[in-house]
Amino acid sequence: MEDQALTIVILAAGLGTRMKSKKAKVLHRAGGITLVENVVQSALKIATPENVFVVTGHQADEVEAILKPYGVTFFRQLEQKGTGHAMLMGESMLSERKGRLIVLYGDTPLLSDGTLQALLERDKATRSAATVITTILEDPTGYGRIVMDDSHHIIAIVEQKAATLDQYKIKEINSGIYSFDSALLWKYIHTIKPNNPAKEYYLTDMIEILRHAGHHAVTLRVEDPSELLGINSRVELAVADKILRDRKSKELMLDGVTIEYPETVQIDRQVKVGPDTIVGPLTQLRGNTVIGEDCYIGAGCIIEDSTIEDGVEVHPYSIINKSVVESGSHIGPFARLRQDNHIEQGVHIGNFVELKNTRMGAGAKARHLSYLGDATIGEKSNIGAGTITCNYDGKKKAPTRIGRETFVGSNSTLVAPLTLGDESYVGAGSVVTEEVPADALALGRARQVNKEGYAKKLREQD
Ligand code: UD1
Ligand code: CA
Repeated sequence: MEDQALTIVILAAGLGTRMKSKKAKVLHRAGGITLVENVVQSALKIATPENVFVVTGHQADEVEAILKPYGVTFFRQLEQKGTGHAMLMGESMLSERKGRLIVLYGDTPLLSDGTLQALLERDKATRSAATVITTILEDPTGYGRIVMDDSHHIIAIVEQKAATLDQYKIKEINSGIYSFDSALLWKYIHTIKPNNPAKEYYLTDMIEILRHAGHHAVTLRVEDPSELLGINSRVELAVADKILRDRKSKELMLDGVTIEYPETVQIDRQVKVGPDTIVGPLTQLRGNTVIGEDCYIGAGCIIEDSTIEDGVEVHPYSIINKSVVESGSHIGPFARLRQDNHIEQGVHIGNFVELKNTRMGAGAKARHLSYLGDATIGEKSNIGAGTITCNYDGKKKAPTRIGRETFVGSNSTLVAPLTLGDESYVGAGSVVTEEVPADALALGRARQVNKEGYAKKLREQD
């Protein structure tokens, strides 16, 4: 049978009262990205962006801004009168669409690609009016219950709030993921009535409505209930985050990355890591970070929105943000690359060195106790321990340009704007305020005076 046209609608308009948050529920993060992005990414595995629609309401501007890069379309639900009402808001945009319409909830971020595929397969095989993804939960509290007739056909979904005592005990639950025959959904959706204690228009009522109209709904029961977890509270948010992290680590390990004590490591969903890289315990790899092959990332590092090329060593407890580190460089332990740094090949950055908006040329070194801000450092230069670029005069920032193969002695203070020429030399302990020409030695410190016997004389006075 040929594939049918496919539309996906993601419901993300609710506030999520049970989160007790000022922030809309779908904007909370699990696996390093917002709940709703997790769902959109799953949707885009089976549909193209022009077929994916997101219903927004609470903090619609923020939700839409986050999802804009995915190229999906939005429609708004200004008042949240239930999941059925949310769908209705898209009627003018969607009711002419043929084929299948899959509904996903923005607070259900763990859905596996395999299950979505299985849903498509089942639709092809059954051509049902609706297919509902269900699972069995030991504790079904909070979920809609699947009511079956004697021959195990689904006849209704009953929300917990509206359930009879017998229905309350049912352990098969509604995941909130359905696929509908699009034409039938739009034909009957207007007949949903807010006949329930919450006075909401429940999309779940469609099952009973379709059945009364003589159509068949079926279930697709998923074995692993964890992938259907709906996030309503921060407790569930933490559970979802853990599951997404575990999945990510496992995926990377199967692709050849060593992760030590993976249960302590947090890697965001979109991070990439090359084979034979070792990731130490308690490390966090966040945002759009890309790490090459054969790297060593020691324990306790936090690397965010950065590119680390092949063969780089990042020693323990280093923090790298929005920076590029080229191949073969050594960073840390205890280094901080604050933002917008570019580290060329084979650079050494040691402990307690902070860099901001700084470029280090190939083979340059800053091994101990430095602040290098708004600086360009030429290749093979050596920045001595305790060197500070004074890039801020209290009002504005100024640059420091250090040529190639320079030697900056320990504890030097480089007052920007400043240029040190190629192969120049700065004596230890200097305060440098003026340009140093190439090949020159700069000494910016008081000359040493020795007063013979003076210390002894002071001692004898006491
Ligand atoms: C819903 C289902 C329930 C199911 C559970 C699975 C209904 C009536 N109930 O309950 O059967 O077991 O999910 O997790 O559908 N939303 C809107 N507009 C609204 C209301 C909700 O966009 O007016 C969105 C929310 O942002 C959320 C999703 O729909 O992403 C689900 O809403 P929620 O209130 O969490 O539904 P549940 O009570 O969990
Ligand atoms: Ca929910």
